[in-house]
Amino acid sequence: MNATLTADDMPGVPDELAWSLPVYAQLDLHPVGGDGPWLVLADGRRILDMYGGHAVAALGYGHPRLVAALQDQVQRLTFQSNLLPLELRARACEALARFAPPGLDRVFLVNSGAEANENALKLSFRAPERTRVVAVEGAFHGRTAAAAAVTWGSEKWYGLPRKPFDVSFVSPRDPAALAHKVGADTAALIVEPVQGVAGAVDLPAEFLAAARRATRDAGAMLIFDEVQCGMGRTGRPFAADYYGITPDIITTAKGLAGGFPAGALITTHEIAAGLKIGELGTTFGGGPMACAAIEAVLAAIRDEGLLERVRILSEQIRRTCVAGPVTAIQGAGFLLGLVCTRPAKEIQAELLERDILAGTSADPRVLRLLPPFTLEPEHVARLAAALAEIAP
Ligand SMILES: Cc1ncc(COP(=O)(O)O)c(C=O)c1O
Repeated sequence: MNATLTADDMPGVPDELAWSLPVYAQLDLHPVGGDGPWLVLADGRRILDMYGGHAVAALGYGHPRLVAALQDQVQRLTFQSNLLPLELRARACEALARFAPPGLDRVFLVNSGAEANENALKLSFRAPERTRVVAVEGAFHGRTAAAAAVTWGSEKWYGLPRKPFDVSFVSPRDPAALAHKVGADTAALIVEPVQGVAGAVDLPAEFLAAARRATRDAGAMLIFDEVQCGMGRTGRPFAADYYGITPDIITTAKGLAGGFPAGALITTHEIAAGLKIGELGTTFGGGPMACAAIEAVLAAIRDEGLLERVRILSEQIRRTCVAGPVTAIQGAGFLLGLVCTRPAKEIQAELLERDILAGTSADPRVLRLLPPFTLEPEHVARLAAALAEIAP
């Protein structure tokens, strides 16, 4: 059909939809480059990316350390599978384990958030009588079979004829329910401590404390899905640190390798010791390019004091950005939801007219911010000034 088309038939901006599946509602914005927190368009226009490439661009665009690590690695060894041990993989796993809460010191590297969750759930089914997973209303865990089954509103996300296991949901406003929802038949309770897709909803600390108690009492795994809220985004290494609660498994992805595809599952050495050869596996996960990027991201977070920067600038956003249509701010660190008087889509468009990109969420009134950790106070001031210009 399209085989006879040539570049001459498509002058100007290439039409992605002509060649791909129509599954994304895309904005009319066509970046050709990036520079720190800025997206650069073909005509030279610069857009302040407060959405951070959907939480992936933790170091912004073109961070010298990440660029150098990837350039160096692509020349040394672009790929090798997990069949062969790599010193670089060992270093990346060690750095990630040291970044994680004490006790979580074994790492399994994969390629994406959904794959990390898929493997975390698989790890939880260790006893035949434990056939159920408890999940939280509002949570998003990914689009693969197990991850989608525990995603709230999974009829929409799942798309397969059957769920692979039994699932019950609990309200984050009802911590008391956990004690009877999590029982002898429960393999795991999976929680997204700061819910991203839901609109940057920071779950109540009492709920997470009750989650830890209920899973410990029932002998079930507690999984924190930190695919979006982990890797420093709360201003602490993980949301587990932010809340002071250590789960049995943390999953993470997005900012983990600053833009190179990577995900990880981090767990205890006791759980790791129960695994046999071949129980989990992946071809690309833990490849050298991903490991070089993970190492560079963790080194930049440490050496550039980025966690402290996230905490300070998050406070600046909270102090200055309740302006124009924004009536309240929820979330944690650099995963923030601006609660608006009008549909967030309208505010997103009005910000874009002022060269600022923000995201939306499942909550039509919440605009989502996921900026790079390298943001500067002047960028927050720019956002605050733009919001103040917009009609309430
Ligand atoms: C909390 C959470 N879990 C899992 C996922 C799925 O990650 P991926 O799209 O990398 O599979 C996402 C993606 O948005 C997420 O926000």
